[in-house]
Order: sequence, then C-alpha cells, then structure tokens
Amino acid sequence: MLARFFQRSRSEHVLEIAPSGAILKTNTKTTILQAALDQAVAFPHNCRVGGCGSCKCKLLSGRVREMTDKSYVLSTDELKQGYILACQSVPLTDVTVEVDIAARSAHPVIHTSGVITALDKMTHDILRVQCRLKDPARYTAGQFAELYVSNSDTGTGGRQSRNYSFAGAPGIDSPVGTVEFFIRHVPGGAFTDWLFKSAKLGDEIEGHGPYGDFWLRPSSAPIVAIAGGSGLAPVIAMLEQARAERITRDVTLFFGARSQRDLYCLSRIEKLANQWMARFQFVPVLSDEPENSGWTGLRGFIPQHLVRMVGPRIGEHHAYLCGPPPMIDACRMVLSESGIASSNTHFDKFLDRSHVATA
Ligand SMILES: Cc1cc2nc3c(=O)[nH]c(=O)nc-3n(C[C@H](O)[C@H](O)[C@H](O)COP(=O)(O)OP(=O)(O)OC[C@H]3O[C@@H](n4cnc5c(N)ncnc54)[C@H](O)[C@@H]3O)c2cc1C
Ligand code: FES
Repeated sequence: MLARFFQRSRSEHVLEIAPSGAILKTNTKTTILQAALDQAVAFPHNCRVGGCGSCKCKLLSGRVREMTDKSYVLSTDELKQGYILACQSVPLTDVTVEVDIAARSAHPVIHTSGVITALDKMTHDILRVQCRLKDPARYTAGQFAELYVSNSDTGTGGRQSRNYSFAGAPGIDSPVGTVEFFIRHVPGGAFTDWLFKSAKLGDEIEGHGPYGDFWLRPSSAPIVAIAGGSGLAPVIAMLEQARAERITRDVTLFFGARSQRDLYCLSRIEKLANQWMARFQFVPVLSDEPENSGWTGLRGFIPQHLVRMVGPRIGEHHAYLCGPPPMIDACRMVLSESGIASSNTHFDKFLDRSHVATA
C-alpha cells in the first residue's frame, strides 16, 4: 500500500512513523530525523550527530544506511531489538520506524520566526540573543529550539539548523512572546560566525521547537547543578523557573569557566540565590585564571571540587549538567562514584559537528 502512496523515482522512499501513523516522503540523501523535522513531525532528538541517543527508534521494516557506529550510544539490548539512530540513518528502501512521539513531547512543536531585539555581549565570546517571536511559544525550562542557519540549503531540500537552549524561564501560565539564548562563538562555525560577525537588531531568525528532555524532574531531593560556558543557559532557565514555582530544594550551582573574563550572569545568579527558598550555594570554578590575578575562588576543574563542596550527602542529590561534553563526562563519573543513580542524573551535551568523528 505504501508503494502506491505517491509517484516517485528510485531514490525516493516512504517513511512511516509508528504508532503516530505519520507517512512521509523521503529520499536516500536525507536522514530519517531530517525528513521528519522538515515535514513538521516533532521527532525527539538532541545532538543530531549520533552522540546522545535521543533520536533512537526501532526499525520495524525496511533497510537503512547508517553513517556512524551506533554501538557507543545504544545498549546491547537495544541493538538486538533493531534500534537505530534516526539522525544517522538514511533509508535505502521504504522504512517504518517506531518511536512514541506523543509520550516524549510535553509541548507542541511550532515552526516560527523571531526578530532579534537584543544582542548583548556577556563575555568576549558569548552573546545573549533575545528574539521577539511571531507566534508565542510554550516550552519547559531546560529545552532547546532549532534555529536555521541562513542561506543553508543543503541541496537535498533541507536546511541546516543548530540547537540553542532557552536561557530564560518560560513563566507559569501563558506562552512566551520573547525568548533568549546564550550563544558562544565557535570560530569557523556557520551559525555563530554569522551571529558574531553580521547579525544585527531587526534581523529575522527562523526556527522550530521546543525539543529535549533536560528539565527539572519533580522531587524533594537537593539539586547539584553544573554548567560550563554557554551551558549556563538551560541551567539558569531551570533554576529561575523553579524559583518562580517557589520550589524549596537545596541547590549547589557550579559554574565552570576558564578565567574571570569568562564568567557572566553573576548578578542574575546573585538575585536567584537571594530569592531562593532554601539553601543556595554558588561555586564558580576557574581552570585558567592567572596565578596573581587576585581570584580567591576555586581553581581547576569542577570534578576536583564536587564532593567537598556538595558535602557528605552528595549521594542524595539529583544532578543536572549542561555544557561541553568532556566536562559532563568527567563530572558524571564523580557523581556516579558518589552514589547518585544514573536515573537521577540529567544532562545536555552541547555537541556540534566537530564531534561527528568521535561520536
Ligand atoms: C541540545 C543542544 C543545545 C545546545 N545549546 C547551545 C546553547 O544554548 N548555546 C551554545 O552556544 N551552543 C549550544 N549548542 C551547540 C550549538 O548547537 C552549535 O553546535 C554551535 O553553536 C556551533 O554551531 P555553528 O553553526 O557555529 O558551528 P558548525 O558549523 O556546526 O561547526 C562547529 C565546529 O565544527 C567544525 N566543523 C564544521 N563542519 C565539520 C565537519 N564536517 N566535520 C568536523 N568538524 C566540522 C567547525 O569548524 C566548528 O569548529 C547546543 C547543542 C546541543 C546539541
Ligand atoms: S540526535 Fe541522534 S544521537 Fe543525538
């Protein structure tokens, strides 16, 4: 029946997504994830480079070509059951995959555009980008949007996009009309080169979202939050939302940066700490601060200080981490050795295309 779905050439195929029943056109050059997103299906995903496993789905029928080795990301059980990574698989035939989209998206995904209303330099390489949206959006603090890279037609009908986490709390009731992001310049990067070198107030950015399952789970457990660089965005959004909801959980917030010039949002964090309804400990850690700078805070890397700063009851905490992949991997090891279950550790790795080779 699917074969008769549309008239097509040999490189065109039909992609069926169960159990939603979505039936889409695709081709041998487009990943399953890209085909779904291009046709407004909110397929769960995160890194897009085969590194996080968020887009895993079960291949029910058909054949795919896989661009990277998925055995690093999927469990032995998942591999046996025929799971694939949608962001790394292109169809060779008509395919049917299974993924429970409804169960994994808290808010409807919308495609919209926004006008840049602020471009504030937070550090020498991080910008706060504020956009006024054409259509108001709902998201959960911690989630991200996909913003299109301008003039980025890939030649297969798709456009390139990049993920950016919302840096502000979405509020309690109504959808938001303005969103903000903290974006770090990646030299040579398509989106951030444009943003840092050419973007100006009034420019329009298109995007879609929200996506991601990095959000504060309901619990009374104390929180250890760990942010590196622009990874502060979803962490501060999450904590500001928790404060708005008058949550009373102790928090230790670590902020890793190279030197004092890389620290930002300090007054916003101070305000958060002052208004927090339980204990709030803020721990900036600098890895490359000159010895004679007068910095009296902690030096080195966050994992070295985690256990001492959180204290002997670290194992009772729930952990939320966001930032560069090496920082997250090193911290997760310490958290796991300290007794925090992996089910209580949530993280968002800011993977980019340079991680494709290592994913
Ligand atoms: C869930 C999620 C949320 C994120 N949130 C944020 C956020 O809030 N703030 C933020 O700053 N970042 C965030 N990121 C990272 C962001 O999505 C981009 O990856 C980053 O900004 C780089 O985009 P770019 O277009 O400038 O660089 P790209 O064009 O993607 O290039 C990135 C790097 O890869 C190199 N490169 C390009 N092509 C290749 C290739 N084919 N092979 C190998 N290397 C290559 C480039 O030279 C560059 O060094 C997030 C990532 C994820 C996964
Ligand atoms: S989105 Fe496919 S592995 Fe991360």
